[in-house]
Amino acid sequence: MTKIVRVNKNNPEIELIDFAAKVIKEGGLVAFPTETVYGIGANSFNEEAIKKIFIAKGRPQDNPLIVHIAELEQIYDLVKEVPQKAKTLMKKFWPGPLTLIFKKSQKVPYVNTAGMDTVAIRMPSNTIAHLLIKRAEVPISAPSANVSGKPSPTDASHVIEDLYGKVDVIIDGGKCDVGVESTVLDLTEKVPVILRPGAVTLEMLREVIGNVEVDPSLLKKPQEDLKPKSPGMKYKHYSPNAEVYIVTGDLEKVVKKIQELTEEQLKYGKKVGIMATVQTSTQYEKGEIIVVGDRNRPETIAKNLFEVLRQFDKKGVDVIFAESFEYDNIGLAIMNRLEKAAGYKEISAEGELP
Ligand code: TXA
Ligand code: MG
Repeated sequence: MTKIVRVNKNNPEIELIDFAAKVIKEGGLVAFPTETVYGIGANSFNEEAIKKIFIAKGRPQDNPLIVHIAELEQIYDLVKEVPQKAKTLMKKFWPGPLTLIFKKSQKVPYVNTAGMDTVAIRMPSNTIAHLLIKRAEVPISAPSANVSGKPSPTDASHVIEDLYGKVDVIIDGGKCDVGVESTVLDLTEKVPVILRPGAVTLEMLREVIGNVEVDPSLLKKPQEDLKPKSPGMKYKHYSPNAEVYIVTGDLEKVVKKIQELTEEQLKYGKKVGIMATVQTSTQYEKGEIIVVGDRNRPETIAKNLFEVLRQFDKKGVDVIFAESFEYDNIGLAIMNRLEKAAGYKEISAEGELP
C-alpha cells in the first residue's frame, strides 16, 4: 500500500517528514518533491533499496542515479576528491538545480552508479527534500518519479498516476518550481561538460568557472557516432502517447504553419493538440490548444512543459504541434526536453507539409 502524505512546503510538518524519513532508513521507497521535479528516493547506502527503485520505475539498469544531500559535509563520504571548480560551483549554486559528477568513493554502491566509477550529486533547495534527507540521516538516491519513458512528474498527481502501489510513501508538496530536471555537469574532464541542460544555464556556469562545453549529443537524435556521456540521455524520454512535432522558424510563420498542419490533420480525422504560448494562443481556432507559458518569461514554459504533455495525453490527442523556442539560457533545457518528446521530429515553417 502506498501512503500519500500532504506536506506544506513553506512550513513542513516535522512529524510527517520523520514518518517518511523512517521509511527511507528502513529500506523503503519515498517519492518526494524537489524544486525541479519529483524524485523517487531510497537510502544511497542500501543496495537492496536502490534496486527497488529500478524495478518501480522500470528503469534500465545501465542508467545511474543522482545522490541527494542536505549538508556539504555529506559529500566527503561519497567522492574521492572535490576539485576547486566544484567547490566554487557548490558555493554559488547549492542548494539548487545543479548536479555535479565526481569520482566516486568506495562507499557508493555500484548499483547506484550503474557500474561507473563516477557519481552524480546534488543538494536540492526544496524545503521538504532538504528536511527529508536531513532527518533520514543518509544521502538519498533519487531519479525522477515517473515510469521510465514518461514525462517527469512536476506535481504529486503525476507521481500518483505513475507510481501508486509501487512505492511506500508519496509526499505531496504541491507543484515543482522549476519543472525541468537539474543541470548535469561533468567535472571529471579537463573542460567541464553539460550532460543535461537545466535551470542553472550554460551562461550562468560560464560566468562562474569560465570555459564550459555542451555535450554535442544533446540536441541531436542519438547516433552511433555521438554517444552521450550521460547514459540517461540516450533513452527516449518525456514522451506523451501522441506524436509530437516541433514547428521551427519565425514565430509568425510558425503560427501559420501550425494552423495549416492542424487543418490537414483534422481532415484526416485526427485529434490535434497545439502547444501555444501567451503570445500566440488567440491566433489558433481549431484543435486542443494549451498555453505552455509566456515567451517573455521562459521559466514559465519550463515549469509547465511536462504537465502540458501529460494534459495532451489526457485529452487523447493523436498529434501535437509545438511551437519552438530560443536555444539560449533556459531555452536550451526547454528545447532539449521538447526535442526528446518529439523524437527530434521538426517541421520547418518555411518547408513543405510532411
Ligand atoms: O532534477 C533532478 O535531477 C531530478 C530530481 C529528482 O533531483 N532527478 C533526476 O534524476 O532527474 P534522473 O535519474 O531522472 O536523471 C539523472 C540523469 C540521467 O540522465 C543519468 O544518466 C545522469 O543523470 N547521471 C547520473 N549519474 C551519472 C554519472 N555518474 N555520470 C553521468 N551521468 C549520470
Ligand atoms: Mg528521469
